[in-house]
Amino acid sequence: MNTPAQLPFEQTHPLRVAPRLRALQSQGSIHRVRTVEGDEAWLVTGHARVRQLLDDDRLSRSPVDSRAARDSGSAFLANLLGDFADDHARMRTVLEPPFAPERMRALRPHVEALTDELLDELAGRTGPVDLRLALALPLPILVMCEWLGVPHEDKDKFSTWTQDAASVQDPERSQQGLGQLFGYCQTLVARKRENPADDVISRLCVAEGLSDGEVIGLTALLLFGGYETTVARIGTGALLLMTDPEQRQKLRADPSLIPGAVEEILRLSMPNPHNGGMPRYARTDLEIDGTTVRAGELLLLNIIAANHDGTVFDDPGRVDITRHTEGSLTFGFGLHACVGAPLARMQLQVALGRLVERFPTMRPAVEVEELRLRHDTLTGGLVDLPVTW
Ligand code: HEM
Repeated sequence: MNTPAQLPFEQTHPLRVAPRLRALQSQGSIHRVRTVEGDEAWLVTGHARVRQLLDDDRLSRSPVDSRAARDSGSAFLANLLGDFADDHARMRTVLEPPFAPERMRALRPHVEALTDELLDELAGRTGPVDLRLALALPLPILVMCEWLGVPHEDKDKFSTWTQDAASVQDPERSQQGLGQLFGYCQTLVARKRENPADDVISRLCVAEGLSDGEVIGLTALLLFGGYETTVARIGTGALLLMTDPEQRQKLRADPSLIPGAVEEILRLSMPNPHNGGMPRYARTDLEIDGTTVRAGELLLLNIIAANHDGTVFDDPGRVDITRHTEGSLTFGFGLHACVGAPLARMQLQVALGRLVERFPTMRPAVEVEELRLRHDTLTGGLVDLPVTW
């Protein structure tokens, strides 16, 4: 057997698939790799296989035994998902209503107002300005605070903890961050029980059959999942549009294309270079395209590769905001598919739509090749995005 490919793969360009990942994908759909932690795992790159395995109950999101391969992503997700994973169907029932279309419609004007305020501030400055700090980071934090019911003045505290929790380089830091995040959520939930408001935490507090621990766990899960992921996509999405004048012009000429443009951006955005893929552990021996995967082994389901599979997406590296993106796996697939997708989509539509409309000449203030993706956290995203206009 070939020597396992070592993760992470070198990312030579922030908007293109790592060459090593592309090369592996062209050779087949499943590959032996070594994780950053030094353990062997299977990397799955073919669209059909990734899609099927994302929704396959022969696989578990948590290690199935204590000797399982280590992977920073899986350790973190197992801790964060905790009770949620054990009682998944019940937790989904509680979590879906806050993302219902009528809730999103009610929240949208607020997201638009917040975006306009941030862009007004930006318009008053002269470039170069870091668009990550001016828009990509503050917007999802403000929205999360409003929607979930978290005091905005606590943003520095909780963003430090969520970033610590998502550290892929330091397991101790990750554990500590997660502990602090849970401690904070415990206080928040206690406060909401005393003083309920019109927000998601208050609604979780009165949801039928949820224990206090479950409300705290879900609050931590939403606070974590709720903004870092979106921050990363606003940054890479803005960069994709800025570096493709033809597509940007098309969008400016017809703003009704924004929902499709966001789907294409989500398909193409690849903000986490260090991560082999969504972690899963085999509960039983499996046969995958002629390869035997043994019970207990770790599989990394690579959504980036799947979203660039040429058998599903014609000329997959090309940006086409009018493309059919139905097969995109950005939000996962099936049973575990992202519950927060409506909120992420709505924010991206507002943020990127308004940005293109108000700053038609915005461009990166440095060469795109100089921009770096974050290697230190699970959610990745650009380290910074200096722009001028
Ligand atoms: C662009 C932004 C986002 C991306 C790319 C994203 C991606 C994903 C993916 C791929 C999964 C599936 C995980 C798996 O199969 O194991 C997932 C699950 C999840 N996401 Fe998101 N997400 C985003 C935004 C959000 C937001 C805004 C929230 C909440 C406010 C959220 C909350 C969750 C939760 C709770 C799950 C677990 C669902 C389950 O296991 O049933 N996500 N997300």
